[in-house]
Amino acid sequence: MKIFLKAIFFLLLICFVVAFNNQQLSLPHLFFISLVFFFFPLFLVNIWLVPGGLAWRNPDLNPSKIPGPAGWPFLGILPKMGSHAHRKLASMSSSMGATRLMAFSLGSNRVVITSHPETAKEILCGSSFSDRPIKESASLLMFERAIGFAPSGKYWRHLRRIAANHMFSPKRVLRLECVRQGVCDEMMEKMWKEMSVRGVVELRGILQKGSLRNVIESVFGSGLGLEIEEELGLMVKEGYELISEFYWGDYFPIISSSWVLDFSGVKRRCHKLSLKVKRVVGQVINEERSRLIETVNVINGSRNDYLSVLLSLPQEDQLTHADMVAVLWEMIFRGTDTVSILLEWIMARMVLHQDIQAKAQDEIEKVVGPNRIVQDSDIPNLAYVEAIVKEVLRLHPPGPLLSWARLSTHDVQLGKFFVPAGTTAMVNMWAITHDPSIWNNPWDFKPERFTEEDFPIMGSDLRLAPFGAGRRVCPGKSLGLATVNLWFARLLQQYKWLPVPSTKVDLSECLKLSLELKRPLKCLVVARS
Ligand code: HEM
Repeated sequence: MKIFLKAIFFLLLICFVVAFNNQQLSLPHLFFISLVFFFFPLFLVNIWLVPGGLAWRNPDLNPSKIPGPAGWPFLGILPKMGSHAHRKLASMSSSMGATRLMAFSLGSNRVVITSHPETAKEILCGSSFSDRPIKESASLLMFERAIGFAPSGKYWRHLRRIAANHMFSPKRVLRLECVRQGVCDEMMEKMWKEMSVRGVVELRGILQKGSLRNVIESVFGSGLGLEIEEELGLMVKEGYELISEFYWGDYFPIISSSWVLDFSGVKRRCHKLSLKVKRVVGQVINEERSRLIETVNVINGSRNDYLSVLLSLPQEDQLTHADMVAVLWEMIFRGTDTVSILLEWIMARMVLHQDIQAKAQDEIEKVVGPNRIVQDSDIPNLAYVEAIVKEVLRLHPPGPLLSWARLSTHDVQLGKFFVPAGTTAMVNMWAITHDPSIWNNPWDFKPERFTEEDFPIMGSDLRLAPFGAGRRVCPGKSLGLATVNLWFARLLQQYKWLPVPSTKVDLSECLKLSLELKRPLKCLVVARS
């Protein structure tokens, strides 16, 4: 603001010096010059340099004066929303004294963000922010008809109820242990092979394929075939890239209605991918439907995959073919990257902190013994292993801004601030989990902080809520955590994980849809006797 006022002052000064030295300038000229150099900037100051920027220009929208940066003209703080957005937003909030609530503009979108657990609870657990703003790519990729982006009405409640009962129920998560164990065996074999052939292991690709196979088996059952599995893997990868990609239309609605202004081709690619999803997932549904007609009822029978359950729902609960495609595609999409990204962070920390790795291995030996592999039922007894997972979720939350934001469905009061309907609300979970007034030495990797007390991470305590909270909390949290805990414990039980000699473990991060390690982790594995 100060810089801008100084600029106006100097421009005015120049203008009058020019006018004074130039005898040919008449009064109308002078008037015109002052209009251009004084009133126009003043007009800009009025509409743009308000707290929060252009999208908050109407004073009725921000009567309680939520503090926030003005940002750039028209763009707001879009230029800051790159691969370190969570860090930049955290430092802006703290430097403006706006950790409770900060307002800003992303193009023409009005946004508020909190870096405080109490306000986070109000946003996530109240009923006012129960919708999500949808990106053009997510809409074109059909996520609007699936749980993640469906507006919070009857249809969304129906989808969540079916998923809670048949995809994520505790009984079903338990029944899927055999799938998790089988996939883990395959991954460990691949890691060993890669170590023998290349002398080094790059975990990312193996973990991604493992997570994909794991979620495919729980959604479609086994025996889908390698070809379709690979096709689905490529589709998830492409979808992930498209949703992470910057698209102007998400911030300037006038662009989103035009295919001509689709400079980066995001819309065209989304359209192509959605046709492919409809074809591939649609074909799997049709095949399963005809198989079901010939065989016995699923729920009482041997099959336990989500697709069979959806096809066997009572008539009144049935989804249309198109909705089923969207729902199944979302499960595959959401269930793949979250698990593999979290595991890569965990293993990076283990390679870096050899003492912590050894301590966890001692615990596994004591609890499980030398003659059998770790099972789901061992996890509650592996307090240190669980504490490591929590500490990684604290330091490297896969969704530092909780991945997908919320949208206010009506005007709402957050503490002393008024937030109008149609405002996007974000929670900066990364800022909360790195706040020194909440966590002792927040930058240290110290799993012990979680062994001293049983800290819930499923959304009841907003100091650490990596799965979100409230009505739209992650429905896959138990399944995701069961997978991560079991695979992590088994990787430690079987192998010792070492850094590649003379290279440092690189913990640089990059925010796409999730917060990833910027460079894939490379390490050595040695069999434990
Ligand atoms: C480590 C694993 C995971 C993490 C860290 C994670 C994180 C999250 C977060 C932060 C949200 C937003 C919650 C909110 O707005 O309050 C979310 C939503 C969601 N997650 Fe997860 N997730 C994980 C695993 C999974 C898995 C395995 C699935 C499915 C197979 C899944 C499916 C979903 C869906 C469908 C939503 C949207 C819920 C709604 O809008 O009603 N997630 N997840």
